[in-house]
Amino acid sequence: MSIRSIIIGTGSCVPKRVVTNKEMESLVDTSDEWIRTRTGILQRHISNDRETNSYLATQSARKALDMASVLPQDLDLIIVGTMTPDMPMPSVACLVQNELGAKKAAAFDLYAACTSFLYALSVADKFIRFAPDMKVLVIGSEVLSRVINWKDRNTCVLFGDGAGAAVITGTKEDRGILSTHLHADGSLGELLILKGLDVDLPPGHSTLEKGQQYIQMQGREVFKHAVKAMETAAREALEANKWNEDDVDHLFSHQANVRIINFLGERLRLSQEKIFINVHKYGNTSAASIPICLDEANRTGILIPGHRILMVAFGGGFTWGSVAMCW
Ligand SMILES: CC(C)(COP(=O)(O)OP(=O)(O)OC[C@H]1O[C@@H](n2cnc3c(N)ncnc32)[C@H](O)[C@@H]1OP(=O)(O)O)[C@@H](O)C(=O)NCCC(=O)NCCS
Repeated sequence: MSIRSIIIGTGSCVPKRVVTNKEMESLVDTSDEWIRTRTGILQRHISNDRETNSYLATQSARKALDMASVLPQDLDLIIVGTMTPDMPMPSVACLVQNELGAKKAAAFDLYAACTSFLYALSVADKFIRFAPDMKVLVIGSEVLSRVINWKDRNTCVLFGDGAGAAVITGTKEDRGILSTHLHADGSLGELLILKGLDVDLPPGHSTLEKGQQYIQMQGREVFKHAVKAMETAAREALEANKWNEDDVDHLFSHQANVRIINFLGERLRLSQEKIFINVHKYGNTSAASIPICLDEANRTGILIPGHRILMVAFGGGFTWGSVAMCW
């Protein structure tokens, strides 16, 4: 009997402050209409000084642990997917470990931009297949508002802050994570880049002048690659599990742009009710986007045991991948 990883608890947390498209109009030359029609985003949550990455991550973790009825001291491993840590060292995972009092848990961060949660889930899955009793906390957490140039309309309207978490353990039941497929292409890294967190810390004069401490993106190019890569990763998962498109009950796609999500849904011939969308509320929260979706869906009760879930993400690097699971 093979061992599979199952999600036994989910949680999420977003900052209290909501910034509407209308408010963005006062910051840059944009309009609610442009943002809505090009991206589907209506608002985003933006953190204050106290709502750090590790704070949001810890809050989401507490909710996931609570749902899973797992005590922090019983955790074996914490993996945080992020590109906006509180600081380079200690990792967000270590800060969360300390906050939770998860004393026996190993902890590390993983960097795969918007694909980080799927990368982290895949790593957790590998651990659990060898040690099914392990309890692993997987978190995607970001405070992208801190690496956004609030004067650059090409990027500042797109992103938001938040965190999502899942508690994973092993089962002999015929459900859980069925397949993971991860990919990267470093040759396209320049199209979506954040140079600020390089060895040149604190940022030198030239770094600041060039705006390298902020996310820079060639949106249209990224869009083209994102739709293609996500469809390929989705089809890889379908093929690996011998699923038809009809077999998918829920698509949790990275929430960057509603046009990308719907395009993917159309390519996979999924009906609208199977495509989970919350980008209108949060914008692109990078590593947090899929776990926030998962938690919202879980808490609203739309995930039924036996449902087939397809998760697909794409991000800077480039990185992309898919995870298929049976709930
Ligand atoms: C960024 C994105 C929304 C832009 O949409 P688009 O339809 O491709 O728009 P374009 O880039 O072609 O820009 C069209 C025009 O709108 C302008 N524009 C850009 N941002 C704007 C804003 N916030 N408000 C108003 N106009 C804006 C551009 O300057 C451009 O003007 P120009 O034609 O005079 O040069 C879209 O490309 C996208 O979503 N890309 C992928 C983003 C993504 O997935 N990123 C993360 C991956 S994890």
